[in-house]
Amino acid sequence: MRYVLAAFVLLVCLVVGLAGFRGESSRRPPIEIFPDMDRQAKLRPMEPNRFFTNGNSSQPQVPGTVARAKALAGSDRPVLPFEDHPVNTGRTVGTTNYVESMQVTVTMDLLKRGRERYQISCVPCHGAQGDGNGVVKKFGFAAIADLHQERVVKMSEGQMYRTIVHGNNEGKGLMAGYGANIEVGDRWAIVAYVRALQRSRLGSPEEVPSAASSKGGN
Ligand code: HEC
Repeated sequence: MRYVLAAFVLLVCLVVGLAGFRGESSRRPPIEIFPDMDRQAKLRPMEPNRFFTNGNSSQPQVPGTVARAKALAGSDRPVLPFEDHPVNTGRTVGTTNYVESMQVTVTMDLLKRGRERYQISCVPCHGAQGDGNGVVKKFGFAAIADLHQERVVKMSEGQMYRTIVHGNNEGKGLMAGYGANIEVGDRWAIVAYVRALQRSRLGSPEEVPSAASSKGGN
């Protein structure tokens, strides 16, 4: 057994010595024991190629291709995922300052989308009214934030956006981030909807259109 081991160690030294280090630069290609898929058959873009019917190595996008960059309503241009842009980050570019306003245009459709997404992602904990009385409370998760508390009302849109993406790292840090489940446009839609929920308690009765008021109208 000992000889086998010694022979094995010797063999390893030999292989490493011969193939591992070349010691000096050389123009000849290195000896490759494991090529690690360094060279593979591949097509370079926009080159003639007889395999495809259009005779080109590049093919047009198939119908239904999803664009990587998307122009959200209100953002000035298409924004790439992970790009340092307030729409993605909720922060002013190059700083850690939260943006103070919505980064997409608030429309009725956005609010409706926000309500739908809020009801999917946030209601179990924060409750339909945002007061922190979601169903999880019944199961012992008691410390859910009331979204009508002054702190959250005064929070900038950027900070709320980041709370949705990364969870809250202030406070007790009990909320996890939902960025992986909620895409950029929907995060802003949820921010807008939370603002609408807050407004529903902060507004005065006079602001309610008479048709929708329980007091006015017919
Ligand atoms: C699993 C339960 C859970 C879900 C789901 C959840 N939250 Fe929370 N959220 C919490 C808890 C708990 C806190 C309080 C955290 C703390 O004080 O540390 C909190 C705090 C917050 C705060 C206040 C953060 C702060 O810094 O004070 C905001 C805003 C918020 N949540 C928004 C949302 C939105 C919007 C959604 C839906 C996308 C959501 N949460 C989904 C549990 C949840």
